[in-house]
Amino acid sequence: MSPRSVAIVGATGAVGRDLLHVLAARGFPVGRLRLFASVRSAGERLPFRGEAHAVEALGPGSFRGVELAWFVAGAAVSREWAPIAVAAGTVVVDNSSAFRLDPEVPLVVPEVNPAALRGHRGLVANPNCSTILLVLALWPLHVAAGLRAVVVSTYQAVSGAGGRAMQELRDGLAAAQRGEVLAPQVLPQPIAGNVFPQVFDFQPDGTTREEDKLLHETRRILDLPELRVEATCVRVPVERCHSEAVTVSLERALSVAAARELLARAPGLTLCDDPARQHYPMPIVMAGCDLVAVGRLRESRVFAPGLTFWLTGDQLRKGASLNAVQLAELL
Ligand SMILES: NC(=O)c1ccc[n+]([C@@H]2O[C@H](COP(=O)([O-])OP(=O)(O)OC[C@H]3O[C@@H](n4cnc5c(N)ncnc54)[C@H](OP(=O)(O)O)[C@@H]3O)[C@@H](O)[C@H]2O)c1
Repeated sequence: MSPRSVAIVGATGAVGRDLLHVLAARGFPVGRLRLFASVRSAGERLPFRGEAHAVEALGPGSFRGVELAWFVAGAAVSREWAPIAVAAGTVVVDNSSAFRLDPEVPLVVPEVNPAALRGHRGLVANPNCSTILLVLALWPLHVAAGLRAVVVSTYQAVSGAGGRAMQELRDGLAAAQRGEVLAPQVLPQPIAGNVFPQVFDFQPDGTTREEDKLLHETRRILDLPELRVEATCVRVPVERCHSEAVTVSLERALSVAAARELLARAPGLTLCDDPARQHYPMPIVMAGCDLVAVGRLRESRVFAPGLTFWLTGDQLRKGASLNAVQLAELL
């Protein structure tokens, strides 16, 4: 690939910074690099391949000559600026929820549904982070034995709520050392020494927006519009990496040994499943890794045929920046 003129919108955020790391690590052919954020960060400099690059505020003309832009600045910014970028001829990979359920916009995990990218109209959506980790494990099981239903509980790191939530965890832990409870500013509850069953806002039916994404985006990516997905999303005091406890109901029997083999071979996954040696996926092992780890694989005690397992993956990496760069590579 020849060097491309690229931009990152939201470059100073948790995903934006990780994206810069992934672009350098994968040797993505970056020619001209434009970094955008809000006016608060204009003038800040971010390192990329040993050089400091100035951050600019978004404005009219920002996308002139930009071939490819990653949007990692939230849904409101994407709704306003992604159409402007596309109109300027820029191909946009959007990490926000703004366009994920738009039938005109491909929603893609390269290891699962790469063909969905064909015929894109300049805008491609990167799925929700918990959903990316989940579908990587669901896909090989579905191909082998047919998925009927999924029950998933997530254990989500604070970085999923952005860079300010990471700082809130650090400050909360420091306050806990002094015997104090820090009043939350970004997250809905104190996070140090706590877990709470709320990831983003509640909807009228009592589910949260994150739980809704796990249902609708999983259906779309797997092309299973009737799939039943029951999700409970929980925030935990972990800086990086989401974990998920998953139970699947299957159409056809699949032994634990056969499932282990499938998951061990599946692209994007690594099997970490040796209970006798207390080996199973954990955030402190998987932080900064490209692969998603699967373990604790066993027969379901509720669904027959069915399986239960645990997975952990770096949601800033494969759940956001890496998947977004892989999409650009495919494009
Ligand atoms: N964190 C994750 O694990 C994760 C995973 C998958 C997808 N995502 C999605 O990725 C996006 C970014 O998430 P994040 O966690 O990186 O958030 P973040 O740490 O809060 O960063 C937000 C970024 O957006 C910029 N921004 C905010 N308002 C802006 C505006 N009006 N114009 C231009 N730039 C603006 C911020 O710039 P300033 O520094 O100037 O404020 C910052 O660079 C969100 O849509 C999120 O849903 C996040």
